[in-house]
Amino acid sequence: KKKCIGVDIGGTSVKLGLFEKDGTLIFKWEVPTRKEEGGRYILEDVADSIRRVLIEKEIHKDEIVGAGMGVPGPVMPDGYVEVCVNLGWHDLNPQKVLSDLLDGIPVKSGNDANVAALGEMWQGGGMGYTDIVMVTLGTGVGGGVIIDEKIIAGKHGLAGEIGHIHVRDEETEHCNCGGVGCLEQVASATGIAREARRKMKATDTPSALRKFGDDVTAKDVLDEAKNGDDLALEVVETVGRYLGLVLAQLAMTVDPQMFVIGGGVSKAGQFLIDVIDKYYRHYTPISENKAVIGLAKLGNDAGIYGAARLVLD
Ligand code: BGC
Ligand code: NA
Ligand code: ZN
Repeated sequence: KKKCIGVDIGGTSVKLGLFEKDGTLIFKWEVPTRKEEGGRYILEDVADSIRRVLIEKEIHKDEIVGAGMGVPGPVMPDGYVEVCVNLGWHDLNPQKVLSDLLDGIPVKSGNDANVAALGEMWQGGGMGYTDIVMVTLGTGVGGGVIIDEKIIAGKHGLAGEIGHIHVRDEETEHCNCGGVGCLEQVASATGIAREARRKMKATDTPSALRKFGDDVTAKDVLDEAKNGDDLALEVVETVGRYLGLVLAQLAMTVDPQMFVIGGGVSKAGQFLIDVIDKYYRHYTPISENKAVIGLAKLGNDAGIYGAARLVLD
């Protein structure tokens, strides 16, 4: 057996990769995520497309060590998913279902951000380290804690649910986890855009963001902040402050070597890291000797890399 498959299930598409056992990516592809009817077709689509690719590439099933899979919600240690809002899943063990659909190929699943963190440690921004914490800033905020090269998923699959750490008492809207005031509500792409809309409504400060109106995106906010727009900068400071606060708390909980910042919002680059870092330092006066904050390197592929590593381990 010399190959494995990495699967990263996202809210709009599933990313897949075929890997050599040494971690070289041979081929990657995508299928759309069919969320209708409680997401009941997602795993069938995944299995069909894996089967098709193996035939195309003339790879026999016996050559495959297994498939790893990232799921965008909490995953219990045995693979059980109580609820995954992002896919419409309830009460399902996707790793068991996928393994059955693939005639018994071993499948190991984990939370998408936990898995992405493993990928970044292995071949991305955290290369060379054994202990990292990754935060993904996308539609949601995900987190992954890696200690001694292993995912810390906790006993209930909640370890690394960094996006749902409560940070803001003044919040009034609900997060899709049911909570109010989660980090995800401020620091996700949707959260950043909402923050900008709120700020535009609350003041009449002139701002380059106003031309976007209610369609303003996180990217607009970061771009205009880089251009020195005051209102956009205020939003980025708020986002950076809450992220810096949570990273400080994590530094004092697991003390990793590095924090890796990924997800679409991290395309803002070092500009965003600098703001987070400023607040992270502010909240950790206890020592200069602590984790550095840096950017993820694998982009959208972190999940398939980590999923492959999951099954190779
Ligand atoms: C979910 C996490 C997930 C993250 C990124 C959050 O809303 O709670 O489990 O890792 O989104 O997909
Ligand atoms: Na996580
Ligand atoms: Zn939440």
